[in-house]
Amino acid sequence: MRNDHFYRDSWVEINLDHVEYNIKQLAAHIGEDKGIYGVVKANAYGHGYVQVAQTALDAGAQALAVAFLDEALHLRKNGVHAAILVLGATRPEDAAIAADHDISLTFYRKDWLEAVRTQRFRKPLQLHMKLDTGMGRLGFRTEEEIHAALPLLDVPSLHLEGVYTHFATADDADLAYFEGQRSKFDKLYKSLQKAWPHPLIVHSDNSAASMRFAADESDFVRFGIGMYGLYPSKIVKEEHPIALRQAFSLHSKLVHVKQLEAHEAVSYGATYETNKAEWIGTLPIGYADGWIRKMQGFEVLVEGKRMPIVGRVCMDQCMVKLDKAYPNGTEVVLIGMQQNAFISMDEVADWIDTINYEVPCLIAARMPRVYKRSGRIVEVANALSPGESL
Ligand SMILES: Cc1ncc(COP(=O)(O)O)c(C=O)c1O
Repeated sequence: MRNDHFYRDSWVEINLDHVEYNIKQLAAHIGEDKGIYGVVKANAYGHGYVQVAQTALDAGAQALAVAFLDEALHLRKNGVHAAILVLGATRPEDAAIAADHDISLTFYRKDWLEAVRTQRFRKPLQLHMKLDTGMGRLGFRTEEEIHAALPLLDVPSLHLEGVYTHFATADDADLAYFEGQRSKFDKLYKSLQKAWPHPLIVHSDNSAASMRFAADESDFVRFGIGMYGLYPSKIVKEEHPIALRQAFSLHSKLVHVKQLEAHEAVSYGATYETNKAEWIGTLPIGYADGWIRKMQGFEVLVEGKRMPIVGRVCMDQCMVKLDKAYPNGTEVVLIGMQQNAFISMDEVADWIDTINYEVPCLIAARMPRVYKRSGRIVEVANALSPGESL
């Protein structure tokens, strides 16, 4: 790619048509009565906060969810007006900023409400009560805890907007634990309803639950990994409840192609040695970009053929063994499709013993993100210089 927006030959491409497709697939699957929170925390799982948020909303998501208040404020500052829920912990002293920007916060402790209810806000603070039904992370765990907290909400500055929980095993083959969480949620929610007979937004399903068990009582689902075209687990991928399209691909170019003699070494530690004359290509991407040292031995695509990464991955570069001489500037795909060959996010995740969620999150902010619609570039965002619409 030749452009005036970044000056290196490695970049991420985000296919926004695929984000749209994935949202529409889920919306059709869960039906019109349920809304969708597009989960865009962690820079939209490495895909780009604002671009994904806007695409998700245009495609039919009604609201957004993030982990931290900073992320919600980033969306607001970039012109996102939709409802945003912060899923994680927010300090009580930061509640006023959330209220000012119409950002809904999660609470899960009585003492947090005590600290917040005495504050004065310009607008009522929207709150969601988090129930811990088995994730063991954040949330009220018992009816007693819930009933002790509810009276503290009885001030005009606070508005209880929703109630939710999070499932730990909705992507598993064995559903016993999931069913247990679901019935615990039903029990706690019913008990809450008795003491709090006001309308509430109820939401509990993540991607796995929303794709596999759409027919439950909740009003909204929280759709994260599926929106990016990735299945939450191998089980769900095999079940294939809906079709998804991977939005993220990773690209680079050969910046130096040379032939080494037999018994010459490549990279730090000289751990790779040629056993005959070999063509070696250098890629300008390394572990500082999130292409971590464990990627050694994995493969990349050159002209649709797989070539192995040889020698240690350096901070900013790595080397591949080529089957022949290729011109400098030849495009290489590290994740995604080239000609008819495909390297999936799942394959990369398997290689480094992790889950697909972690891989796009690992790809560093310094890596430019190129956004495409109908095959055309619509935006290039580069953390090293401000994004620009084309
Ligand atoms: C509270 C909460 N809800 C929803 C999600 C989205 O989950 P998924 O990406 O599996 O759809 C997450 C992600 O970790 C989360 O922490």
